[in-house]
Amino acid sequence: MNILVAGTGYVGTTTALVLAEMGWNVTGLDVDQNKIRLLQQGSIPFYEEGLEVLLKKHLQSGRIHFTSNTDEAIKDNDVIFLCVGTPSRSDGSADLQYVKQLAEEIGHNMDSYKLIVNKSTVPVGTQIKVTDWIRTAQLYPHPFDVASNPEFLREGKALTDALYPDRVIIGADSPQAASILKELYQTMNCPFVITTPNTAELIKYAANAFLATKISYINELAILCDELGVNVGEVAHGIGLDPRIGLSFLQAGIGYGGSCFPKDVSALLRISNVHGIPLSILEQTESVNQTQYLYLITKARERLREFDGKKIALLGLSFKPGTDDIREAASIRIARRLLAELAHIRVHDPVAKLPPELLHDSVTFCSTPEEAVEDVDAVFICTEWAMYQSIDWERMKESMNQANLFDGRNLLDAKRMKALGYYYQGIGNS
Ligand code: UGA
Repeated sequence: MNILVAGTGYVGTTTALVLAEMGWNVTGLDVDQNKIRLLQQGSIPFYEEGLEVLLKKHLQSGRIHFTSNTDEAIKDNDVIFLCVGTPSRSDGSADLQYVKQLAEEIGHNMDSYKLIVNKSTVPVGTQIKVTDWIRTAQLYPHPFDVASNPEFLREGKALTDALYPDRVIIGADSPQAASILKELYQTMNCPFVITTPNTAELIKYAANAFLATKISYINELAILCDELGVNVGEVAHGIGLDPRIGLSFLQAGIGYGGSCFPKDVSALLRISNVHGIPLSILEQTESVNQTQYLYLITKARERLREFDGKKIALLGLSFKPGTDDIREAASIRIARRLLAELAHIRVHDPVAKLPPELLHDSVTFCSTPEEAVEDVDAVFICTEWAMYQSIDWERMKESMNQANLFDGRNLLDAKRMKALGYYYQGIGNS
């Protein structure tokens, strides 16, 4: 079985490499020729630990190839994974233009049976649309199936998540499609859920929306914790030991970001509105997340009286550690607000770069956290990179103008920081 993975973003590149690792012959396809050139040379176009080693291994084993020749790639492969982007439109709905374009190219170029597997996060009903788009573009009525096989990998842990998933969801309405996918994943030692394509598509949104809701719940509770003098981390641990609740995704902070939760929550809300079935809990999940960062801003403004003319260090830009991805990152919201209130910002991140909107006279990018905190009136921790925990905070204090710490990820030990002489404000742990 020859496999084509169309789209070489996080999901596509990881899927292609994991399938090669499982022993299949894989071709990665992308219209972006620069990306293809980098991949052919053994470089991953984004930061994700472990991927480059696997890429080099399978370029050498000959089990992975990359191309930007769509027509040939479709003809040469039996199973085609769709891993192209589904960005948000301004109304929150998912934009399927890349999925549609690819479906039409598949229809146009196929010359034998193909199984098309959708891994991109798409609205319920997309499998039916893809089937129609392919059929309409077909020059000759070759048989094909379209299945849904959502991906649950996290950025920063992409390889482990994809190699050892909790479950494999297969949404297929033909036994042939389900059995090809089962064969493909035969080495995976986890539960398989074989269901309809619509159900598989909804499972993906429902999973991300549930996790986002857990985060917004603990984030709101954290603010109450500060008021009550209770530590939210202890509350999370105390409730999380109940297996019905679980310990994960109860880390309070300045809100969730990334390319998935914000986009998927808003897409699911859009689907619910279109069907006239409001998901009111999810509406609150979104609205709590949009304002969560303001809690820390308000606390900092109270402490500094105003930001005008103040120097502030932002430690961490990426939406979480282990990635250089800054999409929907809370750090950017904080930076935007501080700039609007005329602060000077000194930024550090070990891998992420400043986005164009922060290329500003009042923003300095620093190569070390030590450099970032020099002479500042406050430090905001926006991403819980482990390196910020091992900083010599005692020494750092000496180089700051004022020792104010606003810990947006509850990374540091509040008691210790206070004992070192810092004014410390976290989210529900102060
Ligand atoms: C998320 C899901 O976790 C994956 O299962 C899914 O496959 C992926 O979206 C996707 O749809 O492609 P990801 O966006 O990479 O993965 O990152 P997460 O680890 O889920 O974190 C998302 C955000 O939530 C981050 O900003 C993180 O800082 C925040 N978060 C997470 C918290 O604020 N508290 C927590 O307890 C956990």
